[in-house]
Amino acid sequence: MAQVVTPLSWGLLWLFLGVPSALSSAGEQRLELSLNGKWRLSNSNRSLLLPAEVPGCVHSALQQQRYIEDPYFRFNDLLYRWIALDNWTYTTTFTGSPQIRVKHKVLLIFDGVDTIASISLNGIILGKTDNMFRRYDFSVRDLLNDGDNVLEVSFFSPILYASKRWKAHSSYTVPPECPPDVQKGECHVNFIRKEQSSFSWDWGPSFPTVGLWKGVRLEAFDILQFIQLSSLPLYNHSCSQWRLQAELLVDVVQTFDGKVELSIPELDSKQTFQMRFLQGRLNYNFTLNINQSREVKLWWPSGHGDQPFYLLTVRGFLGRFLILSKESKVFFRTVELVQEPVVGSPGLSFYFRVNGRKVFLKGSNWIPAHSFQDQVTPASLRNLLRATADANMNVLRVWGGGVYEQDLFYDICDELGIMVWQDFMFACAMYPTEDDFIQTVREEVAQQVQRLKSHPSIIIWSGNNENEAALATNWFSIPASLKLMYIKDYVTLYVNNIRQIVQEEDPSRPFLVSSPTNGAESEQEGWVAENPYDPRYGDVHFYSYVLDCWDWKTFPRTRFASEYGFQSWPSFSTLQSVSVQEDWSYSSDFTSHRQHHEDGNQQMLQQAALHFILPNSTDPLKRFTDSLYITQVMQAECVKTQTEFYRRSQSEVIEGKGHTMGALYWQLNDIWQAPSWSSIEFGGKWKMLHYFAKNFFAPILPVAFEDDDTLFVYAVSDLNRGLKLRAVVTVHSWSDLDSVCTLTSNLLLVSGGSAVAIFKQSVAALLAGCGRCTRLTCLLTFHLQNEDGIQQGPNNHHFLCSPKDAQGLQRPNITAKVQENDSGFTVTLHSAAVAPFVWLDLGNIPGRFSSNGFLMVTRNATISFEAWCPTSVAELSRSLTVTTLMDVY
Ligand SMILES: *[C@@H]1O[C@H](CO)[C@@H](O)[C@H](O)[C@H]1NC(C)=O
Ligand SMILES: *[C@@H]1O[C@H](CO)[C@@H](O)[C@H](O)[C@H]1NC(C)=O
Ligand SMILES: *[C@@H]1O[C@H](CO)[C@@H](O)[C@H](O)[C@H]1NC(C)=O
Ligand SMILES: *[C@@H]1O[C@H](CO)[C@@H](O)[C@H](O)[C@H]1NC(C)=O
Ligand SMILES: *[C@@H]1O[C@H](CO)[C@@H](O)[C@H](O)[C@H]1NC(C)=O
Ligand SMILES: *[C@@H]1O[C@H](CO)[C@@H](O)[C@H](O)[C@H]1NC(C)=O
Ligand SMILES: *[C@@H]1O[C@H](CO)[C@@H](O)[C@H](O)[C@H]1NC(C)=O
Ligand SMILES: *[C@@H]1O[C@H](CO)[C@@H](O)[C@H](O)[C@H]1NC(C)=O
Ligand SMILES: *[C@@H]1O[C@H](CO)[C@@H](O)[C@H](O)[C@H]1NC(C)=O
Repeated sequence: MAQVVTPLSWGLLWLFLGVPSALSSAGEQRLELSLNGKWRLSNSNRSLLLPAEVPGCVHSALQQQRYIEDPYFRFNDLLYRWIALDNWTYTTTFTGSPQIRVKHKVLLIFDGVDTIASISLNGIILGKTDNMFRRYDFSVRDLLNDGDNVLEVSFFSPILYASKRWKAHSSYTVPPECPPDVQKGECHVNFIRKEQSSFSWDWGPSFPTVGLWKGVRLEAFDILQFIQLSSLPLYNHSCSQWRLQAELLVDVVQTFDGKVELSIPELDSKQTFQMRFLQGRLNYNFTLNINQSREVKLWWPSGHGDQPFYLLTVRGFLGRFLILSKESKVFFRTVELVQEPVVGSPGLSFYFRVNGRKVFLKGSNWIPAHSFQDQVTPASLRNLLRATADANMNVLRVWGGGVYEQDLFYDICDELGIMVWQDFMFACAMYPTEDDFIQTVREEVAQQVQRLKSHPSIIIWSGNNENEAALATNWFSIPASLKLMYIKDYVTLYVNNIRQIVQEEDPSRPFLVSSPTNGAESEQEGWVAENPYDPRYGDVHFYSYVLDCWDWKTFPRTRFASEYGFQSWPSFSTLQSVSVQEDWSYSSDFTSHRQHHEDGNQQMLQQAALHFILPNSTDPLKRFTDSLYITQVMQAECVKTQTEFYRRSQSEVIEGKGHTMGALYWQLNDIWQAPSWSSIEFGGKWKMLHYFAKNFFAPILPVAFEDDDTLFVYAVSDLNRGLKLRAVVTVHSWSDLDSVCTLTSNLLLVSGGSAVAIFKQSVAALLAGCGRCTRLTCLLTFHLQNEDGIQQGPNNHHFLCSPKDAQGLQRPNITAKVQENDSGFTVTLHSAAVAPFVWLDLGNIPGRFSSNGFLMVTRNATISFEAWCPTSVAELSRSLTVTTLMDVY
């Protein structure tokens, strides 16, 4: 629409400058009217008319008004497919006030519109939207009435839009066209700037959402409107000085000369800038030099130090009048991605240096926490991120098929020291490069980088998920003659546009074009390497479901493992909430419906069968719950083996490979109740893998493995200082709780940030020395201790045969007693035999144990339970079940 701005009255300004009391009598410089809350919602033929919350979406509104049941229940994802095929209109009526209309400019701001919509106010079309990742605003002063105003947002079906754009793109295809059938999803998601996994993924349902997923408000102002403040601390190595680059985005009604003051009082740092604010929307950059006589406390990743911050105050003045006042947190830290020659290798290193210190990244990958983002509560977000830190992780990768997360996500990561590898939202596809597509992406990228760059938790920007690999290894069967054209599109989007904007907006962090990639080597090869999975460069994603995961030799000894994993089923209580009795079998329609990965259910059992006897109870329900359990045992052991391999490979280069400095398994969380690679179920319950992660990511970790019948124990340390350690290896018989013998290594100085062999012996000699032991009758536990004999790090175990072949395993007949004392609930276990994979389950009582899924080689054990909601000893005792491997045999 045409934008009419009444010229700012200089008389009025003079009044402001001269007579301070006039400002208050004339009202505030700025007014805000939230338009969140109840709107009206209708479908195209108006057969449905209902109230709807904003922020929200159509699915949530229909569910809240009971037009539909829980979309996650059973097969409802198929039943409710019509929702995203219809067009929907959100309408609200609000009262305009004279106070708003007298302001010189009024903006109508949408923080997030999902996705294809036409917006009108009082019957006049303001504009159209095509990108859920952008903020949209419209200047509306002259369209407002003093009385009722009608605001309408008409959404076009995202599925039809994607298909329409795909049809219009007739010159060549932009694959993939559709997801695999097993995902039961929608097609052409790459043609719409929307959460890519909302059209289905191999771990999630197809719920293409529609709605106003973020807030809506009116902002009215006379002089200027604050839009965003971001700050980047930059460190000058040559003079050891910090400076803060602050960027202020404001919308100015009419050009004026003013003054901006930046200060960090706690650091005795303050500067004032004379400014000419130009009419319109512009960024203003300021550099605040940090007082060199003050020591700046640094932000550290979890496990490496604290996460202190300072308050930055920005104040804007017109004459003596305060027209702007903002405070924001500032965290000081530096980050580098180091890609330099590696001794003994033709490749390049790939590791992160934070505040000058080399840091091993350990963590997982984050997917959207709900199909309907409006249903992600602050409590659920905090719970997931606390579980991340509690499992000794220091990083999450916000994966490129989801959404740029909400501010709170990054605030909590800042607070907990969780580093974030931030993808841009492009995944597993080729993308179009028409002008309007590129333009909307450019705006998206600029807005997101400006919104997020002040967060120290974000340590890297990454252009896309797996699109370099998709091109290089030809996932989409593109004829060789056309490959160059697709590479050109790839470079246009990620290098010439996204990378260019990021580098301009943010000189403080590395940018990587894709993941996996060969990094600097990919750039050498024209941005698409011949083999982006080359373990000697960059990062690697690696999956194999058929190879034996207990054999570490099957894993690539990569520089950095950013994705790897195995599926498992969630617990029975989680499935029960969305299923009925006829669904509770491993071969039910429900069980195959929820599996979105081809052959996934079979792969889990096949992998489990390599080492475990598969459940085969005559009781169908027990057989089902036992199967769920065995998939979790399999997953936990597989990811443990692989992660321990990466952690112990950090100090070695073997045949040019190694020097591994990152292990991020796929995936942390779930979007619904279904089998997936996650370690935390939908709803927050920890799978066995998450309990294992707490151990295998421990700062000090003993790792055992065999190489040609020789047993090695490595000591892995993420500490910043050396520590003298010895390994204590205990041999147990499967048939007896009294251990057979114990071997102890010499003390060894383990330097901080390293992995070293601390114990080495041939398995045959070890067993012979211990007497009455064979590979089939015995197993090993081990731990590290310091020179005073105090244990450092967790206990660990090493099986000398598959548990399915173990001789002497007995029913442990575990008894459990729940108690409560001042510090919470405890469960005391008593076992009559060695018990592998002891699993405590409290059904749907929210909370977590201090340890679970463990190997019990003692008669007694005490585990604490952290309840997330009020509960009692009686309730816990009633709900508690204990499963061990023998129970499923
Ligand atoms: C109106 O649309 C709904 C949802 O798409 C559909 O189920 C219904 O049959 C339509 N009603 C009429 C009268 O066309
Ligand atoms: C949605 O709107 C488009 C464009 O106006 C129209 O072609 C389509 O039929 C509408 N869908 C429904 C279900 O009415
Ligand atoms: C860093 O400090 C040196 C020495 O004071 C100065 O010459 C250089 O310009 C500074 N670099 C930046 C990027 O400010
Ligand atoms: C720097 O801080 C010191 C004391 O911490 C203070 O005396 C001095 O004035 C400050 N310098 C500037 C330029 O603010
Ligand atoms: C401010 O800095 C940003 C990022 O470095 C840059 O994109 C922008 O053009 C600068 N704006 C001004 C007014 O200098
Ligand atoms: C399950 O048990 C039955 C009878 O006890 C047996 O016939 C069948 O082979 C077993 N199946 C598996 C997969 O072990
Ligand atoms: C509560 O019980 C646990 C486990 O027995 C014990 O470690 C803890 O010290 C007890 N706390 C109090 C306050 O008694
Ligand atoms: C467990 O209980 C069963 C049945 O009472 C018994 O046969 C078995 O010996 C017990 N296990 C152990 C290790 O005592
Ligand atoms: C183990 O617990 C039992 C009771 O459950 C108790 O009698 C016994 O003394 C405990 N043993 C040890 C070593 O703590």
